[in-house]
This record gives sequence, structure tokens and C-alpha cells, in this order.
Amino acid sequence: MAIDISKFSRPDMHNDIAAVLVNEATIAARVHELGAAISREYAGKDLLLISVLKGSVVFMADLVRAITVPHEIDFMATSSYGSGTSSTGVVRILKDLSISIEGRNVVVVEDIIDSGHTLHYLLRLLRDRNPATLRVMTLLDKPDRREVDIPVDWVGFSIPNEFVVGYGLDYNEIYRNLPYIGVLSPSVYSAE
Ligand code: IMP
Ligand code: MG
Repeated sequence: MAIDISKFSRPDMHNDIAAVLVNEATIAARVHELGAAISREYAGKDLLLISVLKGSVVFMADLVRAITVPHEIDFMATSSYGSGTSSTGVVRILKDLSISIEGRNVVVVEDIIDSGHTLHYLLRLLRDRNPATLRVMTLLDKPDRREVDIPVDWVGFSIPNEFVVGYGLDYNEIYRNLPYIGVLSPSVYSAE
């Protein structure tokens, strides 16, 4: 029996990418450096990594395997109201941590810091729970877009003011599975 493949194949997601900003090998090398930095910093100490869902999941999964010291992980989900390509500055907690962070050495693992509103809110909330230390690692930083000043301890890559997807980052929940970080073609969102 002949199978009509067109019924199963979807348009190639790579076609929606205008340019690859950070390729797989460059990401892997940087994630190993970041893992080594964490391992040096927390050798012999308590460590709890908090991944902010959903964007940082792919980064987190690679990062923990690049860390050589014992540590715990937990997850939290936040959302800014509205979807699309810009943050509104209003943040909701969709899922809270499952453990107490009091007295712990906490590192928040983020996918990207844009305006900084999401992280600003989150750090205030976590600080109120009295961790011993609270630090921030982000895979990507868009410094030109910052609206609130926040301390960031480790940055994977500083990138220009472009909307990017892949390696966990989405546009309307799609493209998280791309193995590289790419600039989304403006034709994708201008078509909507
Ligand atoms: P902020 O509150 O403006 O710093 O926004 C942070 C959140 O906005 C990130 O955690 C992402 O979910 C989203 N975001 C910001 N810039 C991008 C981007 O270029 N691609 C995908 N998501 C982004
Ligand atoms: Mg995020």
C-alpha cells in the first residue's frame, strides 16, 4: 500500500529561521564552561538549582550534566500576561517550588533576560524566603532591552535585540526543540 507522506510531514521549522545566532557546538562548549564555573564555586557546599519553566528546561538538562558537584534541582513556572514577542512586566506564578529554600545556596537558571521584569519579580519573591545565597545564571542576555537593573552572576551569551527561538526558547510555544538558537524570521509573526 502506498503511503502519502505529505499527510504526515509538516513544514520544515528550520525554514522559519532567518539566521542561526548560536550553533550547537558553540552552545555545548559554553554550557560546559558554565558547568565548570558552578562546580568550582560550589565545591563542598550545598547547592540547589531552580529552573524557570519552560524556556530554561533544555539548558538546565545540559547544564546539570556539566556540573560535577552534588546538587538538587527544582522547578518554578512564571508567565507574563499576554503572548507574542514582548514581555508586559506583569508576572504570575504558575507553579511554585516543591521544597523550602531557607538557608540553601540557590542558583536561578534562566533562559533569557530581556526587560528583566520577570527575574526582578522572581528574585524578590525568592529573597523573602531567606535562602543563604541567591545567584542567577542565564543562557542568554539582551542587555539593550533592560528596563530594571538586576544582578546576573553568569551569562552564557550576550545577544543583540532580536527575537530568538530554539534550545528551549519559544514563539507561541513552538520551536523549543530546535538544537540551535536562531533569529525567528519576521515573516512568521508579521503573518499573524
Ligand atoms: P523579561 O521579563 O522581559 O526579562 O522577559 C523574560 C521572558 O520573556 C523570557 O523568560 C522569555 O520567556 C521571554 N523572552 C524574551 N525575549 C525572548 C526571545 O527573544 N525569544 C523567546 N522568548 C523571549
Ligand atoms: Mg523564561
